[in-house]
Amino acid sequence: MPIEKLAAPMPDTHEEDLKDPALAKIRDLIYRMSGIFQTDNKFYLLANRCQRRMAALKSGTFGDYLEYLTTRPNRDAEMRALLNEITIGETCFFRNQPQLDAVLKVILPKLTAMKSKQSFKKIRVWSAGCSTGEEPYTLSILFLDQLAYKLKGWSAEIVATDLNDNSLVKCREGNYSDYALRNTTRDWRDKYFEPVDQLFRVKEEVRALVKFERLNLQDQAKILFMKGFDIIFCCNVLIYFDGTSKRRTVEHFYNALLPGGYFFLGHSESLYGINDRLRLVHFPNATSYYKPIPGEPAGEAQ
Ligand SMILES: C[S@@+](CC[C@H](N)C(=O)[O-])C[C@H]1O[C@@H](n2cnc3c(N)ncnc32)[C@H](O)[C@@H]1O
Repeated sequence: MPIEKLAAPMPDTHEEDLKDPALAKIRDLIYRMSGIFQTDNKFYLLANRCQRRMAALKSGTFGDYLEYLTTRPNRDAEMRALLNEITIGETCFFRNQPQLDAVLKVILPKLTAMKSKQSFKKIRVWSAGCSTGEEPYTLSILFLDQLAYKLKGWSAEIVATDLNDNSLVKCREGNYSDYALRNTTRDWRDKYFEPVDQLFRVKEEVRALVKFERLNLQDQAKILFMKGFDIIFCCNVLIYFDGTSKRRTVEHFYNALLPGGYFFLGHSESLYGINDRLRLVHFPNATSYYKPIPGEPAGEAQ
């Protein structure tokens, strides 16, 4: 998402750059492609990210760059490169422990009880906007631990998607710094990571449950293939969308969830005014949204 930490030096951005009408058009294009709406106070960052790409392409003005993004044969690849610049995601392992507790203590027991009646012993989870992989790998660690004991005989699959190609490379490498593991207990770290140089690499068994894919949540065709999930996490992603893209995306999540499934947002996010078919449920220090089973009375969520 809009970048807090910058790896490369920032090109100089000046006040007059922000008034260029081509920059506003680039903003609209980004919105149409990704649902991400850069508000006026993010214009400086937007200009700066465009200028980085412009420097790489030796494109002199925002007008030239707009042309690059709209009329050149490799415009799709360039839009992808620009989206990679503007969507670096802040994340870490075990970012929201109350949510994870809700999954372990309430949701998994409930889902497994429900699904064992259907004799389908698999739990499917979607981590949408997974950034560099900490969220899906956290879920994999929790599931592995449960599969060994309480969920013996069950299997789990975590599908993790993002639109940022650079983040997906990091997901697949699976090497993390101390800082990414700041909320991870020593026990988990020793059990599920191996030290490599100055980093920690997720072990093969943790990777084995996770499947990474590039998916733009605004890709109306591709997102239709995302189906049959028991739990969906889309944390700290929709905050960058406007109401229209939020509503459209949440409708897809609703359709991708199985009845009786749960949907999680980030700590400060809500579906208020966005979707009222998913029912808000409360857990200690966490909330989630529940997709009711047809005919199920209100209040049955937990
Ligand atoms: C702040 S990170 C959230 C990471 C993780 N879910 C968490 O909460 O720790 C937001 C992620 O959303 C991704 N993202 C933003 N717009 C997207 C879109 N239209 N489609 C897919 N991913 C998107 C960004 O690339 C970024 O990796």
